[in-house]
Amino acid sequence: MRTQLDTLVTGALQHGSAVPAFTCYDFTTALAVVAAAEESGRGAILLVAPKTAATPNGLRLITALRGLADAAGVPIAVQLDHATDPQVIADAVSAGADSVLVDGSSLPYEDNIALVQGVRAALAAQGRAGVVIEAELGGLAGDEDRAFGTDAAGSTEAGEPAGLTDSAQVEDFVARTGAQLLAVAVGNVHGKYKGEPRLRWDVLQDIAVRTRIPLVLHGASGIPAEELVKAAAMNVGKVNFNTELRTGVLAVLEEQATAHRADGENLQALLGHWDASARTFAATALATLSR
Ligand code: 13P
Repeated sequence: MRTQLDTLVTGALQHGSAVPAFTCYDFTTALAVVAAAEESGRGAILLVAPKTAATPNGLRLITALRGLADAAGVPIAVQLDHATDPQVIADAVSAGADSVLVDGSSLPYEDNIALVQGVRAALAAQGRAGVVIEAELGGLAGDEDRAFGTDAAGSTEAGEPAGLTDSAQVEDFVARTGAQLLAVAVGNVHGKYKGEPRLRWDVLQDIAVRTRIPLVLHGASGIPAEELVKAAAMNVGKVNFNTELRTGVLAVLEEQATAHRADGENLQALLGHWDASARTFAATALATLSR
């Protein structure tokens, strides 16, 4: 069943769990994620990248994901990820996304707040006031759709992370944006980590005591499970995965493609391997984050 993102995440946190969110560029991956969620009896979040949502086919994918969420046996939310363009947000919501990460994290502080406020007002004017808004404070290095080795400062030389969330801004930011979830930068990066991930749990703790809304950890690929299990205790109720899911799918396609071409161009069976890879990854993430 489709569910409100904030309801799903808050409910999980009450039980000491976090909810994994998975970027779905395609329906095969989404089917695998929902199957894994159903097998585990837990909810999950289907993320749509803004580049996907910016195309007509991407909007059709969102509508299909909404149908998948509606029919699922566990709570599933469909979220537009990292959106900055009001038109893409409006189109994605019309297509079926019921939550949005309004990402003004690359903007100056006041502009970030103004972006979130503007999107909220525009959604209300479109009769979509129920859309759940996640906002992001602090810059996350790395590319969201392509993985290269990055440290938290976004440079090739490991150093003190540059874009950490300033915990002193958290109360003001949450109050003025009205965000229902807050994505934070605590040494996490999108894509591959250059060297060992160095999450700043001290900064996360400082943020967690300043707001009651659930926190969101992006860039979870590459963070060891023994670190991720600590998330919910710091009020991190949503954990985003993309790169590792892609890594697994691409590896299995590479490994299996030749044999399946030889087997009568057997795309159907190859898709079965895609499904198995994504399903196993989602099941592991669900188990890691669940209490
Ligand atoms: P990774 O690609 O690093 O897993 O990050 C995913 C993400 O944060 C999507 O919003």
